[in-house]
Amino acid sequence: MNNRNWYEPYITSWGTEAPSQFSEVLARTIPIEAGRTRLLDIGCGSGIIGIYCLIEKKSQSVTFTDIAPIWIDIARSNVDLKVHDGLIEPSQTKFLEATELTSIPYDEVAQHDLVSFNPPQLPYAYVDEATRQKIDSDPIERSFRRGGESGLEIVSMFFTWYASLPMPKPDAVILLSSFLGRRNIESAMSISGLTPREAPIESNATLRSMFWEYAERFSNSPSEMEDRSIRKVNGVWHKKLLTYRLTNQR
Ligand SMILES: C[S@@+](CC[C@H](N)C(=O)[O-])C[C@H]1O[C@@H](n2cnc3c(N)ncnc32)[C@H](O)[C@@H]1O
Repeated sequence: MNNRNWYEPYITSWGTEAPSQFSEVLARTIPIEAGRTRLLDIGCGSGIIGIYCLIEKKSQSVTFTDIAPIWIDIARSNVDLKVHDGLIEPSQTKFLEATELTSIPYDEVAQHDLVSFNPPQLPYAYVDEATRQKIDSDPIERSFRRGGESGLEIVSMFFTWYASLPMPKPDAVILLSSFLGRRNIESAMSISGLTPREAPIESNATLRSMFWEYAERFSNSPSEMEDRSIRKVNGVWHKKLLTYRLTNQR
């Protein structure tokens, strides 16, 4: 995404920001069929994924939903700016009441071809106490980032929810950090009864510096390095961002 104009100004609850590596990669790799796909943007946050899909990928429509009411309001403000600029038709968008993803009514889910989720996935097992406390003391930060000890707490909830949807169900895309470990990710899928039908799309990304000491530890084990797809280049640790696509299956 060389042209960044599509998201400016991009409001978040922390001010005006550039998209994270995660948002950029999910927006770029999400499979949208122009003029056809009706996307359910779960955990929409600022709305960046859905807005990108409407403007750049020409999805037919996007429904925005999040657990936190403030993000629904912020997504609506970001969408309104694009409607004002003539880039989005109001009829292409819908905003659900704030709700936990597992409580989105099934008849709402069924009106979509694709659901997307860039989940909170910060693995607390590798986060220092001060950072944990700072995140946990702010409910918005907490629901945005906290992934439980393994990073896969909300991700596993999503897999279980998706697997339990009755047929027909939309396809799904979820973006995950390889630092969480592919074995852990695939085990969480299989516990939910899901099997990835295709390998994830891999995108390069830098590893947050807070995790470098653990990356150094893992570097003693070639199997950990491979499982987490981490490598050090010119003194900087890198990982992969993995776009997993789940298709209609029971
Ligand atoms: C990492 S942020 C991603 C935000 C935005 N989609 C993006 O890519 O920038 C995760 C979002 O998921 C929401 N969220 C967390 N847990 C959720 C849940 N159980 N159900 C629905 N939304 C949830 C958070 O409030 C947050 O907005």
